[in-house]
Amino acid sequence: MNRRSAAEAYEKVPTSIFESSSAAAASLAKEVRELIEARNKEGKPAILGLATGSTPVPFYRELIRLHREEGLSFKNVITFNLDEYYGLGSDHPESYYRFMCDQLFDHIDIPKENIHLPSGTVPGDQVFEHCRQYEEMIDAAGGVDFQILGIGRTGHIGFNEPGSSRESLTRRITLDRITRQDAAADFRGEENVPRFAITMGVGTILRAKQIVLMAWGENKAGVVSRAVEGPVTDAVSASFLQDHDTARFFIDQAASRELTRIKLPWLVGPVKWSPSETRRAVCWLSSTYKRPVLKLTDEDYNEHGLSDLLSEQGPAYQLNIRIFNQLQHTISGWPGGKPNADDTFRPERAKPYPKRALIFSPEPQDAIVSIGGTIDRLIEQGHDVCLVSMTSGNLRVPDSEADKFASILQELATASPEGWSEQTEYARHILRLLEEKGPFGEDPPAVRQLKSLILRGELRDAAHALGLPPEKVQFLNLAFYEAGRYRRFKPTHDDTAQIVTLLREFKPHQIYATGDAADPSSVAALCYRGIEAALAELQSEDWSAACSIWLYRGKEKALEPWEIDMAMPMSPNQLERKARSHTRYQSLTTIEKDVVRSNQSTAEQYDSLGLANYEAMESFQRNRRA
Ligand code: F6R
Repeated sequence: MNRRSAAEAYEKVPTSIFESSSAAAASLAKEVRELIEARNKEGKPAILGLATGSTPVPFYRELIRLHREEGLSFKNVITFNLDEYYGLGSDHPESYYRFMCDQLFDHIDIPKENIHLPSGTVPGDQVFEHCRQYEEMIDAAGGVDFQILGIGRTGHIGFNEPGSSRESLTRRITLDRITRQDAAADFRGEENVPRFAITMGVGTILRAKQIVLMAWGENKAGVVSRAVEGPVTDAVSASFLQDHDTARFFIDQAASRELTRIKLPWLVGPVKWSPSETRRAVCWLSSTYKRPVLKLTDEDYNEHGLSDLLSEQGPAYQLNIRIFNQLQHTISGWPGGKPNADDTFRPERAKPYPKRALIFSPEPQDAIVSIGGTIDRLIEQGHDVCLVSMTSGNLRVPDSEADKFASILQELATASPEGWSEQTEYARHILRLLEEKGPFGEDPPAVRQLKSLILRGELRDAAHALGLPPEKVQFLNLAFYEAGRYRRFKPTHDDTAQIVTLLREFKPHQIYATGDAADPSSVAALCYRGIEAALAELQSEDWSAACSIWLYRGKEKALEPWEIDMAMPMSPNQLERKARSHTRYQSLTTIEKDVVRSNQSTAEQYDSLGLANYEAMESFQRNRRA
């Protein structure tokens, strides 16, 4: 069996893994363009089924480019969107109608009457009829030629949450808790996310002639593998695509990492045993067998498809010791390097000491939540630590927090004898703005500014709890964030320029960053690309070549032991200190605080591989720059 057909034995839907989301989007847009042009020649309209969310954004940008630069016309295109939040009018900033206008329709020449979305405001007693008519309209148009899909973490396509049947049609559904959590940032708090939506059914989607599901970023990797390789089940509605004749998945590398051909390539075909593949195989064998690395036997390797590894690098005894030592050397309580120590096998070099360590936090909470233990240790070990919040994060702060601060100020100002009229006026102004815009309205600049200040205060406070003085906490306030909304940010060169200036001033010996494997339109990924672009501009500067870059993960899936280049252990007291610093973020959600639990799980994994048993570990991957 060749490698491809062996992969197909696991993958029940044809799946293409692209270098990047933009490469995938370009390939998909090319297909859609060909369809539109072919239909034009036949004198028929092309019927497209469209999705919203962050996933299709690069695809829509490419369609807009094709329209502007290569004259692709959409005059003869009819679109049907998958879904709409129930309860939101088409003018609501988070309605899918608005999203589609912002991201596509307003930038192409599609006639308004060719655009169809379910209505979010149809009265309750007319929902059934509205949904029936939506189905009828699709059929009357001749059915969807090409359906674009994203996938939710619950495995939903459209908003077909777990439990949706294969035959389901357009209807009103209740959104899953996870889906609402994922939309919480868009709506500034889970409590503001609508509870219902109207969605095409699984059956509606499966009637499309062609279907492509796109997925980017590491936090989609698990659900993608369940949809592609798992059983067909209503617990993961995307798995129904396995039964469709032409459905395909277009994914990026980060979203592919749980597929068998990527995760366990030796089960799929011959493997070139690079050091990292070898480490992965040994760790996998150890965790599958629940047996420490040093206790794995030749039989264990042979029985689990690893006989060629054994014949190349065995016997087991020697291979085990080699990998055990490699894992052992990743553990270091000296993230900045241990001064005056032999650093041959340490993750970080000993010199220079002390180091200038620059910690990048995409939003104010990210770094402290993810690597607060390491920040703590770097400070304690005498390094010059600078923590930089790249964006203000103000879109995450709920109105209730802004209301609280403005009310306190108002009360204080009113209680003060004289000279506080400006403060009173300011507080009243904020409270008025909050009331006028209502829970769903867009924040006016003054409200965003107050929310930024609240988060700044929380970050300074949390940093202080770890021993970092306020002057060592900086705020870049990158412009792309201030000008945008979640899922639709557009960074520019100005953002990179700001990062360049900061790097040039600080000249770090170490950089800690995140976002390399995140959803490409997330704030973390955009910030990471900004750092990469800035470093590329600065690569000829002496300090830059010598600077080590450590990548950390946020609330997405933690690094697996075989991927870890530095594991920073924490004692119970140190973990508690980190967790305590999180309590300073009143506006944080529990999902973010769950990172502490994931630090414990990394330590448990090291323990079960037969390494030291720590309370918790933060983990890092070295950025291997070209
Ligand atoms: C949106 C839709 C959903 C999304 C899914 C992924 O119209 O139908 O199925 O595709 O929730 O959302 P993102 O792309 O934001 O991760």
